[in-house]
Amino acid sequence: MNIAPYPFDALMDITTRPQAVFVRGQGSFLWDNTGKRYLDFVQGWAVNCLGHSPAVVADALATQAKLLLTPSPAFYNEPSLKLAKALVDHSCFDQVFFANSGAEANEGAIKLARKYGALHKNGAFEIITFEGGFHGRTLATMSACGKKAFETLFEPKVPGFRKAKLNDLASVRKLINDNTVAVMLEPIQGEAGIWPATDQFLQELRALTKEHDLLLIVDEIQTGMGRTGTLFHYEHADIEPDIMTLGKGIGGGVPLAALLATERASCFEHGDQGGTFNGNPLMCAAGLVVLDQIAASEFLKGVVDTGLFLESELQRLSARHGLGEVRGRGLLLALDLKLPIGASIVVQAFEAGVLINSPQPDALRFMPALNVSREEIAEMIECLDAILIKAGIARRVA
Ligand SMILES: Cc1ncc(COP(=O)(O)O)c(C=O)c1O
Repeated sequence: MNIAPYPFDALMDITTRPQAVFVRGQGSFLWDNTGKRYLDFVQGWAVNCLGHSPAVVADALATQAKLLLTPSPAFYNEPSLKLAKALVDHSCFDQVFFANSGAEANEGAIKLARKYGALHKNGAFEIITFEGGFHGRTLATMSACGKKAFETLFEPKVPGFRKAKLNDLASVRKLINDNTVAVMLEPIQGEAGIWPATDQFLQELRALTKEHDLLLIVDEIQTGMGRTGTLFHYEHADIEPDIMTLGKGIGGGVPLAALLATERASCFEHGDQGGTFNGNPLMCAAGLVVLDQIAASEFLKGVVDTGLFLESELQRLSARHGLGEVRGRGLLLALDLKLPIGASIVVQAFEAGVLINSPQPDALRFMPALNVSREEIAEMIECLDAILIKAGIARRVA
C-alpha cells in the first residue's frame, strides 16, 4: 500500500485507525488511495443516510456555496428558516436550534433543561440519564453518559447527572427528587451495543415525567432521521417528548445537528445559547434536501422492508454459526456474537473490503445507508459467513 505521501503524525493520535486513506465514496461503497473498494456498513457512524456523496446533497451544497456561506448567526438565512419549519412540521416540536455536532445539540438540551428548571422548578437542575447511555464527548455530555470507560476520565465531571437502568421504571422513580428537572435517553442505546428501550418503557417514562413535571429528552442523534423506519424513533412508542436532539443523518454526511423543543420547553432567553456556525446556510441547505428525501413515506417503508431483510439475514447467519440474538430496529441492528471476537471480525472484514463496527467486544453493529440494496446486504453477509467459517469459532449447522 502506498502510504508514503501522507503525514500521519501531524494528526493527533486519538484512536486506532487502519492505514488506508479514503479518497472517494459513492452510495454504499468507499475507495481508498490504492483503489481498493470497500462495502460500507458503517457509513460514517450512521451518518450517510443516503449513502456516500449523494447527488442531491452535492448539488444542494454546490448551489448554496455559490449563493451564501455564512452571513452570521446574528442574521436570518433562508435555508435555516426553511429547515426549522420543515422539522417542526414533521414532528411534535415547535422550535429548533441548529448545532454543528450531536454533542453540541445535547449540550444545548442539557442547558435548556437547566434553564427550564431555573424558570419553572425552583432551580432544579438534575437530569436522570441511563447506565450504558452515550450522549457525546464534551464535558457535560460525557458526564451525562453512562459509559463505564468515561467514569474516571477528565475529573471532576459536570455534576447533576444520575444514572438509572434502561427499561427499569422503578430505577428512574427512585432517583426523582426536588432537584430533578429532566430524564434523558437514547431510544436505542447505540454505543453500548444496540440495546433498545421498549415502547412500553418509553410510554411509562412519558407518563412518569408528566406526573412529576419533568422534561423528557430523547437523544435521537443515532435513531432519528429514518434510521429505525419512522422519521423519529419516538413515533414507534406513540409519545410526544419535550425535547429531541438530532445529528448524524440530518446532514446526510455534512456536520449538522439540531435541538428541537416544544413551546413549553423552548425557554432560552437572549444570550443563553448561540454559536458562530450554528444554522449556517450551507449545512442547512444539505439538511433540507436530506429531509425531503427521508420524510417521504415510500422511503421510510423502504427502510422498514430493508431492515427486516437485514434482520432475517443476520438471524440466518446467527443460526448457522451458533451465535446470539439480533437486536435493534430498522437499519440499526446488532448481532450478538456470544464471544469477544468483534474486533477480530472487524479487522478481517476490513481486509476483505467490508466495513462493519463492533461497539462492544461481543457484538457487531450494522448501520448502512438507508437506501442500501438487498444485493449489498447479501454481499456483506457472504463476507461475514466466510470469516466465521474460516475462524471456525462456532459450529456451522446448516
Ligand atoms: C446517541 C448519540 N448521541 C450523541 C452523539 C454525539 O454526536 P457527535 O459525535 O456528533 O458529537 C452520538 C455519537 O455517536 C450518539 O450516538
